[in-house]
Amino acid sequence: MMDDRFSRVLLDQAEIQERIRTLGEQITHEMRGLVPCVIPILDGGMIFASDLVRKISLPITLLPIKASSYGMESVSSGNLDLPWGVPPLVRDRDVLLVDDILDTGLTLTTLRSTLLEAGARSVRTCVLLRKQHANHLHSDYIGFDIPNEFVVGYGLDHAGRHRNLPEISCLEIEKKN
Ligand code: IMP
Ligand code: MG
Repeated sequence: MMDDRFSRVLLDQAEIQERIRTLGEQITHEMRGLVPCVIPILDGGMIFASDLVRKISLPITLLPIKASSYGMESVSSGNLDLPWGVPPLVRDRDVLLVDDILDTGLTLTTLRSTLLEAGARSVRTCVLLRKQHANHLHSDYIGFDIPNEFVVGYGLDHAGRHRNLPEISCLEIEKKN
């Protein structure tokens, strides 16, 4: 078992919660009149989504999807695994996809087209974080733009660990000799 070290706290609990409050207000305003089908992307998006939906004052439904592109590594494997598939309940729904971080864009790009093929009426996306190297990639809602570092906490993991940390920290990745 590796011993992970954190170089610094990037976002503390108060900053995260305040940003989620304003994102919730914006989504409530811009999706008013709709009954959004909120799709947390598990596992990473579940912590963020659970706080976010409580700041959205609309009659939402929740429909989690499990997706993974990383395995046990800290570099994307390049293909997206959807072990639970995509539920047929998305047909004719206005979907809001919620994920922890926009990195290569593979997760959101793949899921957006999969959901549209499955009959979703519209697909919006919301990510808590966007890495600097992804700043040309679009998401309808973005919590914070962050530097190109590997971060953990608040849903984000390294090899399955640290998702339960209440703040977001930068991980020191050990250089292999
Ligand atoms: P993308 O599909 O490459 O945009 O990456 C999205 C997924 O990669 C996220 O849902 C995370 O699970 C994972 N990911 C990307 N960057 C990080 C990071 O810095 N820390 C932890 N997980 C990450
Ligand atoms: Mg992950």
